[in-house]
Amino acid sequence: MSGEAQLEALLQIINTSARQAIAEYKKGGNDAPTINSTEFHPIDFATDTVALKKAVRLLEGACQQLCASLAPPQHTVINFAQSYDWACTGVVLRTKVADALQKYPKGLHVSELSQMVGLEKGKLSRVLRVLASKGCFTEVETDVFANNRLSLITLTSSNPGCLARIHAQDVSQGAEVLYETMTEPDYASSYEPDKAPLIYALKKKGLKGSFFDWMKEDAERRENYHRAMIGLGDIMGSLSVLHHYPWNEVKTVCDVGASIGTFSIPLAKMYPHLKITDQDLPEVLVQAKDVWTKDAPQALQSSQVEFIALNFFEESPVKGKDAYYLRNIIHDWPDAEAAIILRNVRKAMEPHSRLLIHDYVLTPASRKPTADYMGADVAPEPMLPNFGAGNSRMYQQDLNMWFIHNAKERTLDDSISLGSAAGLRLEKVYDLAESAVLEFKLA
Ligand SMILES: C[S@@+](CC[C@H](N)C(=O)[O-])C[C@H]1O[C@@H](n2cnc3c(N)ncnc32)[C@H](O)[C@@H]1O
Repeated sequence: MSGEAQLEALLQIINTSARQAIAEYKKGGNDAPTINSTEFHPIDFATDTVALKKAVRLLEGACQQLCASLAPPQHTVINFAQSYDWACTGVVLRTKVADALQKYPKGLHVSELSQMVGLEKGKLSRVLRVLASKGCFTEVETDVFANNRLSLITLTSSNPGCLARIHAQDVSQGAEVLYETMTEPDYASSYEPDKAPLIYALKKKGLKGSFFDWMKEDAERRENYHRAMIGLGDIMGSLSVLHHYPWNEVKTVCDVGASIGTFSIPLAKMYPHLKITDQDLPEVLVQAKDVWTKDAPQALQSSQVEFIALNFFEESPVKGKDAYYLRNIIHDWPDAEAAIILRNVRKAMEPHSRLLIHDYVLTPASRKPTADYMGADVAPEPMLPNFGAGNSRMYQQDLNMWFIHNAKERTLDDSISLGSAAGLRLEKVYDLAESAVLEFKLA
């Protein structure tokens, strides 16, 4: 394809995928959102977002590829290095700017807003303008800001906002020392969880141990983290698995590392025939029982769910369940630890059991033969086969896992090798347009 033909093909993908996304928003008689929308759209928190996400993955990937092709290269690369959106987002999250604006739908001047949130008005205005220029908050007139559909994500009531706060406040400390941890001898070649970049940074502040030890220290931090896990599910659209996995074929499910029921509460509600076992560390199950009591009391009354404490490095989950579901678990751990978890789950499995690993699946940015993708989606030419920026969150999440845990997101080949070393065979890939479910059986 000539250069111009490639650019034309990208324009075509942008046009078609944007129209597909608009059609998804308009289903059910609603209008599609714009940058000025001030409320969430009903689809924003729908559980099945696969069709919309497939369209947006093409749209974001093709738009960035077109811009990176046509913009001066120095312009694009400086954009990588000087994106301080995370720092500005951190400021509005920590000072609860969106909460303060809730009573002022027509907007509030920074001179009043700054008093409410305790920040100097000139600086606050500059932070808000950075975000408003990318569609988060509206600058209704000079220095008057109002909430919009994107800024609502930064409300204290928002679970994705809890995750954004972890990134802006905590993970960024790891990012800051990335170079040091890649060059200092003790850290450079290590994949131990306590040699992660964030832990390097926190050790200087007195932390001993790993990220989860740090989490144990503080109840508020723990609560924010578990709400962030619900937010991560919303961001990844992982509840699509409720619609795209054959749950009617199984009767018993063990949610390994279940957190506060982020996945298994909606699962219990949608599939009342399932018997669910939630397993996690004992202190997490205390918080989990409170959440189930509030959100799904009928599941407790009918004994649809049971809670069994588990340390997945030291013991196996309950035996003989039809499905062992591990969402955002394996990516928390380097290979050695991930292998122990999988071996312990394998010991609990019987021939009818399946192990479901629900994480991101990374693909190289170079094209492979279609069969090698085992059913995972591949972007059309001339796009990068891994959808480029359309999948940017999974590559960023790979870095997050590195910064926090010295762990990683894995490619299909990585997961196949990890499973096979634990006596498991990959049977099927369910591509949910951002995350994927890998179904393993006993080898
Ligand atoms: C990233 S969260 C994922 C939670 C949940 N599966 C989800 O998708 O929302 C990781 C979970 O692993 C749990 N965990 C960490 N170490 C553990 C261990 N040694 N044994 C059992 N669970 C553990 C954490 O408490 C946390 O709930």
